[in-house]
Amino acid sequence: MSTSSEPLVLGIETSCDETGVGIVRGHTLLADAVASSVDEHARFGGVVPEVASRAHLEAMVPTIERACETAGVSLGDVDAIAVTSGPGLAGALLVGVASAKALALGLGKPLYGVNHLASHVAVDQLEHGPLPEPCIAMLVSGGHSSLLRVEDVTSGVQPMGQTIDDAAGEAFDKVARRLGLPFPGGPHIDRIAREDGQVVIDFPRGLTSRRDLERHRFDFSFSGLKTAVARWVEARERSGEPVPVADVAASFQEAVCDVLVRKALDAARSEGIEDLLIGGGVAANSRLRALAEERASALGIRVRVPRPGLCTDNGAMVAALGAEMVARGRTPSSLDLPADSSLPVTEVLAG
Ligand code: KG4
Ligand code: ZN
Repeated sequence: MSTSSEPLVLGIETSCDETGVGIVRGHTLLADAVASSVDEHARFGGVVPEVASRAHLEAMVPTIERACETAGVSLGDVDAIAVTSGPGLAGALLVGVASAKALALGLGKPLYGVNHLASHVAVDQLEHGPLPEPCIAMLVSGGHSSLLRVEDVTSGVQPMGQTIDDAAGEAFDKVARRLGLPFPGGPHIDRIAREDGQVVIDFPRGLTSRRDLERHRFDFSFSGLKTAVARWVEARERSGEPVPVADVAASFQEAVCDVLVRKALDAARSEGIEDLLIGGGVAANSRLRALAEERASALGIRVRVPRPGLCTDNGAMVAALGAEMVARGRTPSSLDLPADSSLPVTEVLAG
């Protein structure tokens, strides 16, 4: 329940191609306005940083206005401004950070520069209430794939593992492109795999051999899988036989989800933690959700996944972490707050 004594926080997210402005009161979501430039990047098959930065500039003011209108608040009502200060695309982050500074200065309100990855964790509070702490968080998106131990989402996030090459979402997007599906490919692979696909091809599971596990127990690798899919499709094309796109999609998806779930549950068990949170765009994947639920419940581990709209990049996640910063009395960032494209995950509150 929202009460007027809880802080009203506006959050701005511009780390990639979504201009997100969210407004929350405590753990209650009031508005989540998102303007995406994804269509402008589609013909390049990936996000073009300069195009994203310009789109953020154009979308910022209208998106702030839309969020305030939806929430039924005016900027003067806001108690604090939160913004993604990193990691992400430098030019894109800069637009959000500059906008947030202008708002904080103009309104005379505190500014919280927060970590994008921790925001993906904090957003779940808007849907499922206070975070279980400690918990294991697996963040899988177009730009990152990491396993984190979260002791306190406002100050204690420790990396356990990450991808050593492609991010999980990047692998979905590249494989989708090879299969002739539109960008971003994740949702398309998910849909055709679910509707028409069967898991009939045994694609490799990266970093799961005994030798790899010694050095990379909680790390991921998806580039070998991506190449294996490309080779398989190529061989089919050369033979003149039709490519069973839905079966390839389903088999590829199974390989990704199998490894993600296996490693996340291994991390939880090794730390003796019974709560697993999954976030980031790939957490919208229906097979990943089902497999995580199925295997976790067999081990007595609870799984929390925000609804798909909160998994992809948005402003509400930044506002959610900002509200938590206020609630736990963290010191705000200074107005010198930088946009830091490689902000480490251990730095939850920047500047
Ligand atoms: O978190 P996000 O919106 O942006 C960042 O990359 O930070 O994630 C976008 C990624 C894209 O790679 C997209 O293909 C993937 O998430 N994605 C999915 C699904 N929905 C989005 N991947 C698999 N299955 C989905 N249903
Ligand atoms: Zn993200």
